[in-house]
Amino acid sequence: MSKILIMGACGQIGVELTLALRKIHGNDNVFASDLRDNHPMLADGPYVQLDATDAVATRAIVEKEGITDIYLLAALLSATGEKNPKLCWDLNMSSLRQILDLGVDKNLKIFWPSSIAVFGPTTPRDNTPQATVIEPSTMYGITKYAGEMLCQYYNAKFGLDVRSVRYPGLISWKSEPGGGTTDYAVEIFYEAIKNKKYTCFLSENTYLPMMYMDDAIRATIELMQAPTENVKNRMSYNLSAISFSPKEIANEIKKHIPELEISYAPDHRQGIADSWPASIDDSVARSDWGWKPEFDLPKMTEVMLVNLKVKLGL
Ligand code: NAD
Ligand code: SER
Repeated sequence: MSKILIMGACGQIGVELTLALRKIHGNDNVFASDLRDNHPMLADGPYVQLDATDAVATRAIVEKEGITDIYLLAALLSATGEKNPKLCWDLNMSSLRQILDLGVDKNLKIFWPSSIAVFGPTTPRDNTPQATVIEPSTMYGITKYAGEMLCQYYNAKFGLDVRSVRYPGLISWKSEPGGGTTDYAVEIFYEAIKNKKYTCFLSENTYLPMMYMDDAIRATIELMQAPTENVKNRMSYNLSAISFSPKEIANEIKKHIPELEISYAPDHRQGIADSWPASIDDSVARSDWGWKPEFDLPKMTEVMLVNLKVKLGL
């Protein structure tokens, strides 16, 4: 039986991943943890306040609860990371390093996400291959690339079962995003519903790889459930679903909210976005463990608007 610890559970991915894993394994077998107070949506299962860089406290919980699997989601993302690169390195690397060491010691199965941010300005921008030039230009991307190399090393050297995907920008309505460059693609839905107006911090033709959260959660669970021999890549798998620009998503939302007005005021996040791919080739994930996305832009837009309107009481 799996006993799962999720670290960084109150964030954009953590809330939905915790809920999905509790459906599969039962509420009592999935421990949520975060620096913050518990998220209201996670009240039906165990929660512990835990700093992901605190190796002693983490070990104590793993031993006390008999944890078998850890999903490490605590991190500083791209935009916040550029504002505080030292904290970005310290948090992202020391949390991963301590979980990898604990994983070896306790024979744990680990999930740790990487990102499209590993790629940089020298990477081919369209249909970016799994193995390609990787020279990230943000501290966040540097931590993700270093993290991928560490995961591969711990698997090769110690046989640790650590698995990873390079998530694209994620779009969701249950929990809000926490400081990324792709956050505009969530903000635009809130502003379209509330104010029928949105000023985007990226320029209108900035294409980025994106994915609806349901696809991301399913990919995570499918990768973790895949037979070991199918997980041939121990750095991190490219993962892809949709690629669109701010203008294209605005036009899709306008099919439902024709009054939406969009303007553009690119800020420091434009440089980050310009260094990332526009679209991703995920054929290796598809052939190794059968990955296939379900949400395209129209389907995601419809689901986001329906659910956010209910959530916002509008
Ligand atoms: P988020 O910022 O929404 O959530 C991160 C959570 O970690 C927050 O709840 C925060 O309180 C918590 N946290 C911060 N410092 C902590 C610490 N020291 N100890 C414990 N918890 C701490 O981030 P997210 O979007 O849910 O991302 C989760 C992971 O997925 C990250 O590794 C991120 O790099 C990766 N990722 C996310 C996206 C995306 O679009 N959301 C895309 C690519 C990769
Ligand atoms: N969505 C994330 C970000 O923008 C990508 O890792 O930082």
